[in-house]
Amino acid sequence: MTAPTWYKDAVFYELYVRAFRDSNGDGHGDLPGLTQRLDYLQSLGVTCLWLQPIYPSPLLDDGYDIADYYGVHPDFGTLDDFRRLMVAAKRRGLRVVADLVVNHTSDQHPWFQAARADRHSPYRDYYVWSDTPDKYPDARIIFLDTETSNWTFDPVAGQYFWHRFYSSQPDLNFDNPAVQAEMLKVMAFWLDLGLDGFRVDAVPYLFEREGTTGENLPETHAYLKRMRAFVDQHYPEAVLLAEANQWPADLRPYFGDGDEFHLAFHFPVMPRLFMALARGTAAPIVEIMRATPPIPPSAQWCTFLRNHDELTLEMVTEAERQWLWNFYAPEPRMRQNLGIRRRLAPLLGGDWRKLELANALLFSLPGTPIFYYGDEIGMGDNIWLDDRDGLRTPMQWDAGPNAGFSAAPADKLYAPVIASGPFAYERVNLAAQLADPTSLWHRLRRLVEIRKAHPAFGWGDFAFLDQLPPSVFGIMRRHARQVVVALHNLTAGPQTVSLDPAREPALAGLLGAALTDTLTGQPAGRMELRRFTLQPYAYFWLTAEA
Ligand code: NOJ
Repeated sequence: MTAPTWYKDAVFYELYVRAFRDSNGDGHGDLPGLTQRLDYLQSLGVTCLWLQPIYPSPLLDDGYDIADYYGVHPDFGTLDDFRRLMVAAKRRGLRVVADLVVNHTSDQHPWFQAARADRHSPYRDYYVWSDTPDKYPDARIIFLDTETSNWTFDPVAGQYFWHRFYSSQPDLNFDNPAVQAEMLKVMAFWLDLGLDGFRVDAVPYLFEREGTTGENLPETHAYLKRMRAFVDQHYPEAVLLAEANQWPADLRPYFGDGDEFHLAFHFPVMPRLFMALARGTAAPIVEIMRATPPIPPSAQWCTFLRNHDELTLEMVTEAERQWLWNFYAPEPRMRQNLGIRRRLAPLLGGDWRKLELANALLFSLPGTPIFYYGDEIGMGDNIWLDDRDGLRTPMQWDAGPNAGFSAAPADKLYAPVIASGPFAYERVNLAAQLADPTSLWHRLRRLVEIRKAHPAFGWGDFAFLDQLPPSVFGIMRRHARQVVVALHNLTAGPQTVSLDPAREPALAGLLGAALTDTLTGQPAGRMELRRFTLQPYAYFWLTAEA
């Protein structure tokens, strides 16, 4: 058996089907709509799509509350639409992974309905029940804005049930072997339909144990390894991506010895990218990456700037959180739980230089980068919508009605398009950016192309450049004989940088090597004591053959 490697140098694109493109004019994006836009995604150069949940669901948590693991939500299409999407994606060489929510179901799931109705139903033990709300007091509440306890009394069942998220999302009981088996069945169903893997939701919380926080327990890792073994045995090309919002030392075990997840989000580096940009200093990025244990060679980090959730500030200190809140979320409405409900472009003031730089930082780091739909054109948000809905508004395709998302009357859309302010769809839309060769979209597309053309990014090891000014982030990536040296100016002023291969351990052995400007492909002299001036928020990447 050969292990899959395609994820190592992939570029992911996360999208919510409901928000992407409505093909039938009912106001909801759907699978046929997505299929029609695969050419677009291919032109951006991304290689793997991550679909947020598409399953039947009451959508109280945008599909992370699953009512049926084996279907497609009728608003989003049918299983046949899904099959057609997979064929069309494969024809273009695009991979597709989807969310798999294993920790909990919707309370509308027939398992829960049966469980609550009858103490003697075999499904009763699919969930976690108690006569009192007192067990597992050390488990934190995650949705702080809405939940006051991880226990909710169900009057039908006459008992409390356990939930780590909304009270409409009862946790499954992974101590029950039947539940463990159900999830493998679900995986097989979708992998048989051609899916390339799963982003596995909320993996730290599968088991509950008294006297623990209920996170990262050995029992949880044991089950996750079972999931991996199942995939390896039956679907060797498929990958598993862990959503575990944890510190580096707690994240590392999710890779096991190369026998647990293929990929895991690097949650701690994300807020530090924003800290580095706000403070104009590279230290936060360097410190967290140095504190990150090495991972098995087959494993890979997934790195991201934004996603469909609030920008989580769980993996920073209390003081850092306050600082980031003050800087990036000055209005109370911008704050949510322990995070910030804003998109990338508004966070960075809509400044294309900063947006490109933020992506360049991400692309230079080890890991597989992920775009969140719409961020490639600098889409805005709507903080006045409920919950995280303001980050999930319709994709802005063009300046036509409903931003080209849907032919439905505007009041029938699942969410309003961003129609006013600097990010209004008349100003920020794909068509306008395609027509402008200097646009953010074109700049980011070029970054994707460059990254894909240089195996050092996906495969390489890394070292930081230590002799640079504190406001310049410098990283060296090396794979086989290819070396990329990436320099990024984090400030609003020009920065002069001396690159000295004699004094910089990361550049050892490169003295005299011929350099290419990675971004233009033009020769750039030799690696020797050199001085460069980086313009405000500019970056400069050099390639050498070692
Ligand atoms: C993490 C998902 O990213 C989030 O959107 C969801 O609300 C929770 N898990 C619960 O499933």
